[in-house]
Amino acid sequence: MRFDAKEYLESKLSDIRKVLRPEESDKVLAACSGGVDSTVSAVLVARALGRPIRAVYIDDGLRRKGEPERVLSVLNELGLSAFIYDAKKDVLEALKGKIDAEEKRKAFRDAFYTVLGRIIREMGAEYLVQGTIAADIVETVGGIKTQHNVLEELGIADKYGFKLIEPIKDLYKPQVRMLARELGLPAEICDRKPFPGPGLAIRIVGEVTWEKLELLRRVTEIVEEETSDIESFQSFAVLLDMKATGIRDGKRVYGYIVALRIVSSEDAMRAKFVEVPHGRLRRISTRIVSEVPEVSRVLYDITDKPPATIEFE
Ligand code: XMP
Repeated sequence: MRFDAKEYLESKLSDIRKVLRPEESDKVLAACSGGVDSTVSAVLVARALGRPIRAVYIDDGLRRKGEPERVLSVLNELGLSAFIYDAKKDVLEALKGKIDAEEKRKAFRDAFYTVLGRIIREMGAEYLVQGTIAADIVETVGGIKTQHNVLEELGIADKYGFKLIEPIKDLYKPQVRMLARELGLPAEICDRKPFPGPGLAIRIVGEVTWEKLELLRRVTEIVEEETSDIESFQSFAVLLDMKATGIRDGKRVYGYIVALRIVSSEDAMRAKFVEVPHGRLRRISTRIVSEVPEVSRVLYDITDKPPATIEFE
């Protein structure tokens, strides 16, 4: 079906105006990760009201290096009134001891929305704007995985003390990108690769600790640098929960195992692993094991979705 971004934009702006009046702009908080879905959602609401709205970046400790500062400046440049909220302690505490992927997602979800509920209460606001899209709902309701940002469909939207505004929940990723262009957002946002809501927590198989997060951030930086010119839907590293033997300075070491995941996809519902040239894989692996010596092995995931999913958890 053809998607007319201009027409969609006009009808969405008018839908939002039916729910919110411009003088209610201080009743609204947008949760923004810096990705295309949440940024489009926040900008749509601000555009509909004709006023800046407040946008919070929840610093949960699960993002890439330097992410909070980068996102803050992008959001402010877009005319949102953005701020960072430090929730690292809340989130890490919630994830402590959790090993199962679904349990981790639910623990993250609960900590994330409890923090947002607290911020909204302190601000005297009422509404949370978020960038849930159709794929998130389909996967959650279909029982594939509980995406952290699906609340209404699971009957838990009232639990956290705010009303939800999810302006693009009927769209898939390609249409969100078209809408982002229609809104005149910079290419940095329109073309940004998806990064899961629970961030690196679902790229660490097993228990999440600060040490593993710091390690995965270093590996992620290398992988993103080395794959920036490879066409893909997502390209990232996963830290496995097993160790493997390696050699350092002629001695045995027992180090971490990292898996690389580089996939092409239209809308995240199906994906194919990218046939990255072996020379490039060797370069990435060599850089990881030399720059992050705690890692002794690098694997490349050659599984499509389905039957695998894109993320490991
Ligand atoms: P999977 O792993 O299900 O991922 O093939 C499909 C797409 O969704 C992203 N993803 C998430 N996004 N909350 C999110 O906001 C989540 O809990 C979540 N889990 C997966 C994933 O990165 C991919 O783009």
